Amino acid sequence: MDERYRSVAIDAARRAGTLLRSEAGKHPQISFKGSPTNLVTHMDRRAEALIIEAIYAEFPTDAILSEERGTVGGPSSRRWIVDPLDGTTNYAHGVPVFCVSVALEVDGQTRLGVAYDPNLDECFLAERGRGAWLGGERLAVSETPTLGESLLATGFPYSIREITRNNLAEFGAFSRRCQGVRRMGSAVLYFCYVAAGRLDGYWELRLGPWDVAAGALMVEEAGGRVTNLDGGPLDRERPAVVASNGRIHDEMLRVLKEVEAG
Ligand code: IPD
Ligand code: CA
Ligand code: CA
Repeated sequence: MDERYRSVAIDAARRAGTLLRSEAGKHPQISFKGSPTNLVTHMDRRAEALIIEAIYAEFPTDAILSEERGTVGGPSSRRWIVDPLDGTTNYAHGVPVFCVSVALEVDGQTRLGVAYDPNLDECFLAERGRGAWLGGERLAVSETPTLGESLLATGFPYSIREITRNNLAEFGAFSRRCQGVRRMGSAVLYFCYVAAGRLDGYWELRLGPWDVAAGALMVEEAGGRVTNLDGGPLDRERPAVVASNGRIHDEMLRVLKEVEAG
């Protein structure tokens, strides 16, 4: 991948993350996207504007899919996929667990992913075929061999109050079978933590393309496995996801199947 793409993605993610951190805890203006649990703040939009401007300054004919603005620009063989603030609910409440995600797809394949956590100043980078990195350190998934020895993470859909398949049954089933299930509130950080071997696995039933684009590449480039809930390829436009170190993947899929069967 051309060095320019990498530096634009890293620079935009870092600048947006630094902006978010500088305003964190200052009671952002909150509005709601269709449900009382689906929040957006004025800082999501400020971070998003900064990233879109940074991409367009260098690549004015590219397409961008960004969570709050939708598709802008294009059509183009290059599409940037942006989550300007992953962890909005944390941010709105002043919890310092959130990050920025920027990915680049070329001809429908993710080639580059950057996730920046401004609270820990951790910048995760993945490039297809060239590994996943945290600073100068190459990332590798954990070697945990069984679900019983694993630490997992998950998240719940914003429609949790309305739908029946809301992940609570799955949460219970996994909680009884592993060492713990964490619920930190940032899908992108879960992927990065699986890539870094901090978590052994992560699943979630309803996500957006911006939640998975950079993170899924991160896990794959760190030697892990990413599938849909049946073990098939991800639907990257409406993803439901299982990401793991590979070793516990089939056990995770079996638990999901058992829960679905009732
Ligand atoms: C959300 C977070 C959360 C996950 C949700 C996502 P947002 O993203 O990643 O952890 O459970 O599914 O939508 O709305 O904070 O960008
Ligand atoms: Ca998100
Ligand atoms: Ca977001």
